[in-house]
Amino acid sequence: MKEQLEGLRVQALEELKTLESPKELEDFRVRYMGKKGSVTGLLRGMGALPAEERPVMGQMVNQLRQELEDAVTEKSQAVQAALQKEQLAKEKLDVTMPGKKTASGGLHPLNVVLDDIIDIFQSMGFDVIDGPEVETDYYCFQALNVPEDHPARDMQDTFYLTDNLLLRTQTSAAQARTMETAKPPIRVICPGRVYRADEVDATHSPVFHQIEGLVIDKGVTMCDLKGVLEQFAHEIYGEDTQIRFRPSFFPFTEPSVEVDVTCSACGGKGCRVCKGAGWIEILGAGMVHPRVLEMGGIDPEEYSGFAFGIGLDRLTTTRYKISDIRLLFENDLRFLEQFDR
Ligand code: DAH
Repeated sequence: MKEQLEGLRVQALEELKTLESPKELEDFRVRYMGKKGSVTGLLRGMGALPAEERPVMGQMVNQLRQELEDAVTEKSQAVQAALQKEQLAKEKLDVTMPGKKTASGGLHPLNVVLDDIIDIFQSMGFDVIDGPEVETDYYCFQALNVPEDHPARDMQDTFYLTDNLLLRTQTSAAQARTMETAKPPIRVICPGRVYRADEVDATHSPVFHQIEGLVIDKGVTMCDLKGVLEQFAHEIYGEDTQIRFRPSFFPFTEPSVEVDVTCSACGGKGCRVCKGAGWIEILGAGMVHPRVLEMGGIDPEEYSGFAFGIGLDRLTTTRYKISDIRLLFENDLRFLEQFDR
């Protein structure tokens, strides 16, 4: 039995050396020292020994048990320490490393300028409204005094979706809708995308942006139009900016004007931005045609109004001296990042 005991001791200690995890150690403990374990089994087998040998053997078995318990405890501590070291190495944090910058988005230059424009008109009491980009022929043309087959249709090259549906060529369509639903006094702007079947070049894009304005009330005159646009120009380009009206034609306004501002790059002397003219055209405007008021259900005898359509892309390219309108639509981050604010 002594030999058996010694054999067990050697085997157990050898085995213990190979164990690496707390789970293996616990299994080991059960296998040797548990109720059905090998060491416990030796104690039970002592019944077969002669009575005088039992105390000696009992002591030896208990010694072995104690020795193994101690060895397991020691190994356990070593395993724990190793695990902790590994964990710490894994979680190592170098606080001296440079931080990583999170890239956050910025506003597109068109939106920067649009936000400014909205602020200006809101401070003058205008509401901001929205209109559909897929529009009916009626709101885009007929209600704006452009009947079917009228030559004025040639002014805008239209993308038709069906005979009756089209991509709006002008935010003026929102004017016609507003008149039908709102009662004067009306003071709104409608910013949005518009579409025309134009060849793409440095100053033309099949999609671009306009901001429509519409004011209708009793006794509204051309002076009001001029005052509002002058205020607008001063806030956008500075107090020294002058505006001028040139006679023009739009089917939905009478009289109609095109509005220029003195070039902000050269102050009116003439430079590359204004192509030497000293002036830059920024919008079309006029007094709402009585027939347009009538079609919108507003009595032209009682009310009058003015309207304007600002070209947002033009305003943006001149403000930032951007030489090619296509840059606004390519979404090249290297370009866009310059306008981040
Ligand atoms: N819709 C016109 C265009 O796209 C611009 C315009 C001119 C709008 C005169 C107006 C206006 O409201 O009164 O060319």
